Amino acid sequence: MNPTEAQWQALLDAARAAREKAYAPYSHFHVGAALLDEAGRVHAGCNVENAAYPEGVCAEAGALSGLVLAGGQQIVAAVVVGEGTEPVTPCGGCRQKLREFAGATLPIRIADSQGWRAEHTLAALLPASFGPTHLMMKKDGRDAP
Ligand code: THU
Repeated sequence: MNPTEAQWQALLDAARAAREKAYAPYSHFHVGAALLDEAGRVHAGCNVENAAYPEGVCAEAGALSGLVLAGGQQIVAAVVVGEGTEPVTPCGGCRQKLREFAGATLPIRIADSQGWRAEHTLAALLPASFGPTHLMMKKDGRDAP
């Protein structure tokens, strides 16, 4: 089911508010994300960097943690907000993280301070993806352990 424009707006508001909280003292690149779950709830996150650089986490990962914590099981829509010459699309790792709780048709909108910049499906950003269903059945028909 596609989100309403009011739901997109709620996601945008939440992602922008989250972006204000970003902890990005190393890259100075502030990102906010918001996810809509199957119950219509909005879960937001911001990037949180770390002095040990690889330990930093993306905004999408924070939002996903909130969704799971609230009992959400499906991502219905996603918004990412950041500033740049190019729309701030989710990194490769976050595309895979989103895939765990969404199918090919998941709509992902990108915005900045001016408004919407782009819209993609998850399939467009992560074609021929590997997901949970790959682990449910082995090729010989027996359940995976
Ligand atoms: N970042 C995100 O939080 N989400 C994205 O979709 C792209 C990148 C963060 C990670 C890092 O803290 C900073 O942006 C620069 O890469």
